[in-house]
Amino acid sequence: MLDHTPPAPKPEDRIAGGAHTPRIHDSAARHVGGSAVYIDDAAEPAGLLHVCLGLGERAHARLVSVDLGPVRSTEGVVAVFTAADVPGVNEISSSHRGDEPMLAEDTVSYLGQPIFAVAALTRDAARRAARLAVIAYEDLAPVLTYREARADGKLVWPPMTLARGDADTVLAEAPGIVRGRMAIGGQEHFYLEGQIALAIPGEDDEVTVHTSTQHPSEAQALVAKVLGTVNSAVTAEVRRMGGGFGGKESQSNLFACVAALVAKKTGRAAKIRPDRDDDMVITGKRHDFEVDYLVGHTSDGKILAVDMQLAARCGWAADLSGPVTDRALFHADNCYHYPAVHLTSRPYRTNTQSNTAFRGFGGPQGMVAAERVIEEVAYACGLDPLEVRKRNFYGTETDNVTPYHQTISDNCIRDLVAKLEVDCDYAARRAALHAANETSPVIKRGIALTPVKFGISFTSTAYNQAGALVHIYNDGSVGLNHGGTEMGQGLYVKVAQVVAEEFQIDADRVRITATTTGKVPNTSATAASSGADLNGMAARAAAQTLKGRLVAFAAEAWSVAPETVLFLPNRVRVGNQEIAWGELIHKAYLARIQLSATGFYKTPTIHWDRDAGRGHPFYYFAYGAACVQAAVDTLTGEYRIERADILHDCGRSLNPAVDRGQIEGGFIQGLGWLTTEELWWDGAGRLRTHAPSTYKIPACGDRPRIFNVALYENENREETIYRSKAVGEPPLMLGIAGLHALSDAVASVAGHRHCPRLDAPATPERVLDAVDRMRALAHHAPSAQP
Ligand code: MTE
Ligand code: MOS
Repeated sequence: MLDHTPPAPKPEDRIAGGAHTPRIHDSAARHVGGSAVYIDDAAEPAGLLHVCLGLGERAHARLVSVDLGPVRSTEGVVAVFTAADVPGVNEISSSHRGDEPMLAEDTVSYLGQPIFAVAALTRDAARRAARLAVIAYEDLAPVLTYREARADGKLVWPPMTLARGDADTVLAEAPGIVRGRMAIGGQEHFYLEGQIALAIPGEDDEVTVHTSTQHPSEAQALVAKVLGTVNSAVTAEVRRMGGGFGGKESQSNLFACVAALVAKKTGRAAKIRPDRDDDMVITGKRHDFEVDYLVGHTSDGKILAVDMQLAARCGWAADLSGPVTDRALFHADNCYHYPAVHLTSRPYRTNTQSNTAFRGFGGPQGMVAAERVIEEVAYACGLDPLEVRKRNFYGTETDNVTPYHQTISDNCIRDLVAKLEVDCDYAARRAALHAANETSPVIKRGIALTPVKFGISFTSTAYNQAGALVHIYNDGSVGLNHGGTEMGQGLYVKVAQVVAEEFQIDADRVRITATTTGKVPNTSATAASSGADLNGMAARAAAQTLKGRLVAFAAEAWSVAPETVLFLPNRVRVGNQEIAWGELIHKAYLARIQLSATGFYKTPTIHWDRDAGRGHPFYYFAYGAACVQAAVDTLTGEYRIERADILHDCGRSLNPAVDRGQIEGGFIQGLGWLTTEELWWDGAGRLRTHAPSTYKIPACGDRPRIFNVALYENENREETIYRSKAVGEPPLMLGIAGLHALSDAVASVAGHRHCPRLDAPATPERVLDAVDRMRALAHHAPSAQP
């Protein structure tokens, strides 16, 4: 269609808050002032029941008997429900694997599995009663550790293999070989707003569920399944989440389904809000991995072949573990060309929480393994790891095919890293820090610069679609709705900017409304960083439909050629007169022009054949790099991240202020994952780190005191929304530079001759261990390491 937006308006004649402007997050003031309404802040319906889950106390056991008498007779308790009370199907696997009962039936498969739900007049009564069940178990052998998982051999998903060339032969003939195993810990999401759902029963089979979810359409479908009804009877709605980070992509469904069950069974509104400890014990986390690697290289640091096996503890149910472990493989190359390669996944079933999506969705674990490979080769060859990175970067014309046989056509990593290297003065600072370490017996400093390349698109092709609904009311105000959810990442403001830009009206004339399955159906999870790419395009399509109708109307009403109708800031030029936006809309309404439209978008060009390990799974890649400096106390293992310099590619940023927030937040979250955040289960499979007292997320005081963040100007080559790039997940992987800065500091204990092999998270204990290992090796040749 014709473009009715004239190019490049004068600076003084621009709309407020259009595309590419650093518009403040629509809820920033409400977040800070406390007036943003989260589900638990909403006015409570009369007769509300509070729900608490009764949890199993064994990692793996048969339920011999479950006596709920004491629960039922607790004062304030109104009803207690078990699997037997489910009118539909007691199964909520988001990946349709059929392996995830909502409430346990005859066995429990992890310590913390919900067995029953108690509904009471107060939250306190429900919580007290939930602890009073008398349950007899017959213990079964649990699978908790990697050793047990390997011996048991049960997988939650068929493994995937990516391969090119003959890795075995190249490895056999390579001049240099390194082999090792890296442990990579999991991560608790620690969303500020915990899981929560409020269900309000309607007529007949109808129910409305307010759910803190990234995936309202799936909540809708699973509530319908559990209740034994159809999707159209269920409305799932979410205005905002207090963070999701992947933890509310699928794991929010349990709470939505339980609340809906109680509401329909009792005819009363029902709310479930587990406390933080229960939330952490019940829900899955980022997958921990154990990666075995075998790498062949030349003596000057060129990688010849990589063979890696990426094993993950997936927990008791499949959930999203298949796509998560697949994405780990898709990122086990990071920015590097492996001439011959063989990668396999091992998604093990274990008797622990069902691990799930977490910012990066397995990609970060694969990338951490790739960076370990680089580090190993660097120490084996006596080179600066950054030099080894650069020698192995994908090319732009040659050496640009990934292990999944996609040709990379937008590679900018060499230029991006070169810029950052100069901007942060890497080489001089590294030389100075290493020299200073020589005369500093206790405090050792390290520095590392690591790159990121992250594939954008859902690897499940059907997910790459979105819908939007745009209304223009007859006073000229605009109502915007789309399938994406807001979790703090700024999706709502970005999509509003798109609509404002299309109509050329100030962004504050676009009303942002809650995501609901009643307005836009069959939506995808807001995940894979694709929220703005997908929903921005869908909203733009809706706006363009409306613009088309307005142009046709104006041309006819004023008897001018359609080409002369132009959308100027807050007004429309029709022939040689200018009409205020509101006036045009009102006239269009009187002329009975339809002022509401839907929009739809699907990502072009992508395809993927998992069995063959071939295709074009990603529409494009987002790039970035970080340089981190750390100081380690080699007597205690304690450390501080002193400085971070980041250069990150957001394409032509839709909103540089929001994107900067995503970069800073993502980096810090990645740093937390790889440093202080440690999940720890005891020998019985009980998660012992289930509260902020024992689980250490980064605090304000942990931020680097020097923190330079810049956006890399790089218009997307693909036709994404205004040539922007997705930004939600990629910056998390900038945190990998922190792990390597610590490693560099530790390596100085042995004169940088041995790879410290620092596993993640690099807690002070692990750092101290690595320092001790380095001390022991300090007088040995590099090859002495086992
Ligand atoms: N930023 C904030 N503030 N809160 C969040 O929960 N989730 C991340 C990222 N940034 C998250 C966030 C994750 S896991 C994803 S996939 C994307 O945001 C999802 O939103 P987007 O697709 O709109 O970027
Ligand atoms: Mo994000 S892990 O894709 O929800």
